[in-house]
Amino acid sequence: MMRLLVTGGAGFIGSNFVHYVVDHTDHHVTVLDKLTYAGNLASLEGLPDDRVAFVRGDVADATLVDGLVGSVDAVVHYAAESHNDNSLHDPSPFLQTNIVGTFALLEAVRKHGTRLHHISTDEVYGDLELDDPARFTEDTPYNPSSPYSSTKAGSDLLVRAWVRSFGVAATISNCSNNYGPYQHVEKFIPRQITNVLRGVRPKLYGEGRNVRDWIHADDHSSAVLTILEKGRIGETYLIGADGEKDNKTVVELILHLMGRPADDYDHVTDRAGHDLRYAIDSTKLRDELGWLPRYGDFERGLAATVDWYREHEDWWAPAKDATEAFYAELGQ
Ligand code: NAD
Ligand code: DAU
Repeated sequence: MMRLLVTGGAGFIGSNFVHYVVDHTDHHVTVLDKLTYAGNLASLEGLPDDRVAFVRGDVADATLVDGLVGSVDAVVHYAAESHNDNSLHDPSPFLQTNIVGTFALLEAVRKHGTRLHHISTDEVYGDLELDDPARFTEDTPYNPSSPYSSTKAGSDLLVRAWVRSFGVAATISNCSNNYGPYQHVEKFIPRQITNVLRGVRPKLYGEGRNVRDWIHADDHSSAVLTILEKGRIGETYLIGADGEKDNKTVVELILHLMGRPADDYDHVTDRAGHDLRYAIDSTKLRDELGWLPRYGDFERGLAATVDWYREHEDWWAPAKDATEAFYAELGQ
């Protein structure tokens, strides 16, 4: 049994991880979350009080973080500003949480000798051409495009430096695009599903040729647990499930699953600096640590996700109007 501190555990992937840990281990979890617009306590409802504790606070609050880190065996660091479109509008919270927040955490784990797993993204590697046979590996040079991905890249580099210079016991994972329950309606898949549920046409940026490498959030969680338990200190592991799809295909699939015509969507203003393609080669994680994804069939995982949003309007409806008002201002 481990005592885990999970930062950002009321967000999309963090809350999925907390559910996964409760279901698959006997670890105890303390969630530290600031409950920004992206955090939602309802995502943690139903979890047992004797396994999961919640602390509302800022990961950049060094005093608070020091106290929490001192009382756990390991930290899994999800807390971040995570949405590219927001980072193009106002980068400042991205600098504060993603860089200063990670710094505060690193100083605390350094002081207490606590194990850290840092959650990052494939976006640190920039993007690939559509016809490039290569995929991202742990050796791909960093080349981030947006304020979001550059602050994630910066946080990864801080972790690497703290490992090398101070002997901090950390690992890093860089994962591809997640989908599943509890994802904020600002993100591509939930935005389109909830648009259709409201009788609004999905919104595709540009021509929809951009490719993302989709992985179910449960597979991300199982990979993180595997790295936490078996990963080599100082190493980076890429997490992906061979799920490349272009955005047009994903929108058409959502429309098909929801009984709408395949062309019932709008093309809207493209994202500035829009990365063309992400693709992950997760051979190292699979060969070295024996991890395998369980959601091989994207269409089945997507159908389950559509059902989840259909059944949980109470969870997503409070954020929908404000999100769409923001996009409307951007012409998106
Ligand atoms: P999210 O935006 O849904 O959740 C982020 C959570 O962090 C929220 O609960 C929010 O309240 C909390 N938070 C924000 N600032 C905080 C602060 N200063 N102190 C404490 N808590 C704070 O994000 P997500 O999609 O769940 O992403 C989680 C992590 O996974 C991020 O580090 C992100 O970079 C990484 N990641 C995401 C994806 C993806 O597809 N969504 C893929 C790879 C990696
Ligand atoms: O690759 C991992 C990253 O995946 C994570 O690091 C980020 O936190 C996460 O937000 C995600 O980033 P993306 O920018 O790829 O995700 P998003 O859901 O915003 O968009 C997915 C694709 O869909 C992207 O090409 C932009 C496009 N898009 C998005 C929205 C919101 C649309 O076409 N229409 C939309 O309405």
